Amino acid sequence: MAEDREYRMTTPVVSNPTGQGASIRTQVLEALLSAKDQYVSGERLSQAAGVTRTAVWKHIKALQEIGFCFDSAPKLGYRLTHVPDLLLGPLLTRELPQGAVLGRAVHWLPETHSTNAVAMDLANQGAADGTLVTAWEQQGGRGRRGRNWFSPRGGLWMSFVLQRPLALSRAAELTLLCSVAVRRAVLASCGLSPAIKWPNDLLLDGRKVCGVLAEIRSDGESVQHAVLGIGLNSNIPAESFPPELAEVATSLSAVLQQPIANLPLAAAIVSELEPLYDDLAAGGRGFQAVAQEWRAACSTLGKRVSVQLTKELVTGEAIGIDDHGALRLRLDTGTVIDIHSGDVLF
Ligand code: BTN
Repeated sequence: MAEDREYRMTTPVVSNPTGQGASIRTQVLEALLSAKDQYVSGERLSQAAGVTRTAVWKHIKALQEIGFCFDSAPKLGYRLTHVPDLLLGPLLTRELPQGAVLGRAVHWLPETHSTNAVAMDLANQGAADGTLVTAWEQQGGRGRRGRNWFSPRGGLWMSFVLQRPLALSRAAELTLLCSVAVRRAVLASCGLSPAIKWPNDLLLDGRKVCGVLAEIRSDGESVQHAVLGIGLNSNIPAESFPPELAEVATSLSAVLQQPIANLPLAAAIVSELEPLYDDLAAGGRGFQAVAQEWRAACSTLGKRVSVQLTKELVTGEAIGIDDHGALRLRLDTGTVIDIHSGDVLF
């Protein structure tokens, strides 16, 4: 924590995702990255970022504090020797496909209350479609149904601003598509095949490894904008989960017993999500197009489950999912109901 305080002191504007300090840091970092392993003079960096050499030096110090390593030589300047696995814009963008809309602007925060809250503020201010907010850690990570989301350093915490028009009736598909995208990315990047628990939890060995939270602003008929938040427990040691989560949560690194590289994993998620979002926003088949894949991975269907609704608990057999992602439950009375929002308890 002392390290964090120091970081805030030297670069106070980093907690403001669109602030000038963040943009100077981005320019300094981009100039260093594009030089590959060559030296870049302080003079060139100060020109690239439009600030004094003293300001450049402060940003270099701030970058060191979050894990970047440099060689510096009196007449040559600075040379990057190590890049940390953090979801900063200049690092993530170079892993994304050219022309990607999701993640075209990335705001990284060393710490924040909730990336969803920051992304919603940005969305309300008119941030571009696809803007991404990422954080090293969240103090008030938000989960579904008002729960907290445990978000220490090491996990993958990201929230997209989505601005394309979408009928309210199709909003629920966003999270279902997102769970498919994350599942594909985890399979491709880590070789793990999580189960999906309706509506959008990803489970490994029956424990939750990822949750998705969509928050929308709507005029009653259509979505004005949405924030799509992904919490993926990538590098979280099993022993660091709090007692109440120890039996029900896990992480990719705990299952694989090895560290996970967050940058390529985040880029894989973006690459999987983008075409699914494109299709949904264009009024395409949306969830229907991936329903077969979703059903094949789903651990809820065919089971006797209880579902916690807002006010009541219903029990029955999960017999299917409709084209928009509602869970079809055959109650013990024989009545079949469609559930649009709830919590499945096995
Ligand atoms: C769930 O309860 O299953 C959803 C959890 C979603 C957590 C993510 S972490 C990034 C984003 N910011 C938040 O505050 N919540 C989401």
